[in-house]
Amino acid sequence: MIPVITIDGPSGSGKGTLARRLAERLGFHLLDSGALYRLTALAAQKRGLALDAPEVAEVAETLNVHFAGDGAAFLDGTCVDSVLRTEQTGAMASQIAAHPNVRAALLARQRAFVQPPGLVADGRDMGTVVFIDAPAKLFLDASVEIRAERRYKQLIEHGFNANLAALIDEIRARDDRDRNRAIAPLVPAAEALVIDSSHLSIEAVEAQMMEFIRAQGVV
Ligand code: DC
Repeated sequence: MIPVITIDGPSGSGKGTLARRLAERLGFHLLDSGALYRLTALAAQKRGLALDAPEVAEVAETLNVHFAGDGAAFLDGTCVDSVLRTEQTGAMASQIAAHPNVRAALLARQRAFVQPPGLVADGRDMGTVVFIDAPAKLFLDASVEIRAERRYKQLIEHGFNANLAALIDEIRARDDRDRNRAIAPLVPAAEALVIDSSHLSIEAVEAQMMEFIRAQGVV
């Protein structure tokens, strides 16, 4: 059995950063499942499809993506990093992600990331749906204000314009959609360790996660 560590949580909780750090530390592969939903949304937009069109599932199924060694994402051979992480792309991803056929189309692609010696997978339903048998499930949360502040700093650092009040509204709207959808809603797995990162440093969260991962016998 190739071990999988799942990290689920809302946008801005720090799960992307923690997933990357854990994967590097353990020498495991990394799955950023949100990137697949974001790329599907961008590919659908490129084809001029409405976000709720049934064809979006075909787009997900046939998605032509690759990730460079430094994590840069390419769609049909074109680097899309400049638009991939914007809040607008996140909102589009959240909309297409509510459709069962889109989720089903991405399942096999996500599971193909399980390769020796192990995988760290981050998303919304990694522990509840995609990797239901994962031996270590984590759920990272933080208050909406703190998540918006983190996102604000990230966007400014990457040279984007940002407005904190608007970000709080956008994050709330995305949270509501991700938590309340009928299929694979954002919810901690029953056996997940839930960590609130609002007032913790990245190092402190990582230490708690490592303790749990060791206790679960993954490493
Ligand atoms: O993690 P992220 O912000 O990149 O994710 C973007 C959107 O994609 C998120 O708002 C909902 C959707 N998503 C999902 O439904 N399931 C996942 N496993 C990952 C992301």
